[in-house]
Amino acid sequence: MSKRKIVTMPGDGIGSVVLEQAIRVIKAAGFEAEYVHGDIGWEYWCSEGNPLPQRTIDLISEHKIALFGAITSKPKDEAAAELDPSLRDKGFIYASPIVGLRQHFNLDICIRPCRTYKGNPLNFIKRGVDSTVDEPFVDVAIFRQNTEGLYGGVEWSNPPKQVYDALMTHPKFVKNFGKVPVEELAVSTRIFSRRATERIVRAAFEYARKYSYKSVTVCEKPNVIRETSGMMLMIAKQIQQNDFPEIQLWNTNIDAQMMWLTKNPEDYGVIVAGNMFGDIVSDAFAGLIGGLGFACSAQMSDEGVAVFEPTHGSAPKYADYEVSIVNPVAMIESASMMLDYIGEGAIAARVRGAVATVIEEGKVRTYDMMKMTGRPDVISRGAATTEQMADAIIAKLGKE
Ligand code: NAI
Ligand code: MG
Repeated sequence: MSKRKIVTMPGDGIGSVVLEQAIRVIKAAGFEAEYVHGDIGWEYWCSEGNPLPQRTIDLISEHKIALFGAITSKPKDEAAAELDPSLRDKGFIYASPIVGLRQHFNLDICIRPCRTYKGNPLNFIKRGVDSTVDEPFVDVAIFRQNTEGLYGGVEWSNPPKQVYDALMTHPKFVKNFGKVPVEELAVSTRIFSRRATERIVRAAFEYARKYSYKSVTVCEKPNVIRETSGMMLMIAKQIQQNDFPEIQLWNTNIDAQMMWLTKNPEDYGVIVAGNMFGDIVSDAFAGLIGGLGFACSAQMSDEGVAVFEPTHGSAPKYADYEVSIVNPVAMIESASMMLDYIGEGAIAARVRGAVATVIEEGKVRTYDMMKMTGRPDVISRGAATTEQMADAIIAKLGKE
């Protein structure tokens, strides 16, 4: 049988460093594949006026599964200034290749698991009665609708006449904004479609069933955002009643959830939310389990395209270090999610087991785990390099 092909998109900065180490780890764990390189990121914006070249889209269309490092994005004017002189003033406008991927492949489901590793010095702790210290075990998987809602891009400053006229048909708009000059208005819409909402909610329930979580929490704000949040909650009630009676459906408001985050994070299982609240709640939970060095994610479409990537960016300030100091665990975890997705769950479990053993032993730790400020001298102060962290994980494979 021919080897499975995986598209690898290192991207910019530390993206390429962590991706290389993640591939070493999954290879050592027994995963065999052929990796096909995909161009993405700043370099291609500067040289071609497109950070997501068509050839990369074609590769993903063909092979479906991609591992992605991270990219650098810059504001429009900086982007224009760095464009190759031969391309300037030719109508190229920078757009994020991540958003581009999401839109092109309709990667509408984003999963961000946040699970405590025992012994991680970055784990959240809380004070109990009598000043005891409690380290809650967090095991939450956040399902974020990835294409719609407030990040859907349907927005205007000084909205055109048809839009303004349509808004003026709403009594609340008339009451609250009817006297504001149109050129002083900025409008960002929050549109949910039933189909995409059903897909994210159903995916959350299926995941809960597959991995034995007892609850799915809809984390929105249906008491105020009645139409969109309300629709998600209503759909969740129907799906739960019809198809997942053994799983509890909980409902929290995003603001209260942020407060409860530190009160009882151990109580939550699967959380499902729209695009922006999902973004917020996933970063918040990631903070409890060690932050960007540990936050992994998957984005998937209903046509079998899936992209696995750490949540962190390209961390440009560390990109040029002669010896890389960043934590590869988020990327390694993202690669494990890929293994689960393509049916290599046993290898994924081996990788996660090895990561857990290294963290619990605590002998090899990257600078973030030692609560150091990232500087080249962290290595001489005892922090592991990116490669040493991966080496330590590889050494534990099969011994966890
Ligand atoms: P960032 O995630 O690149 O870095 C923020 C800080 O987090 C770093 O300075 C570092 O202290 C820490 N950090 C990140 N990854 C780490 C790791 N693996 N191990 C240890 N510490 C780590 O976010 P920032 O600085 O806001 O953005 C830098 C660039 O990345 C920007 O151009 C931004 O647009 C882009 N970005 C790309 C993302 C992506 O590719 N998915 C996501 C977020 C930002
Ligand atoms: Mg975010």
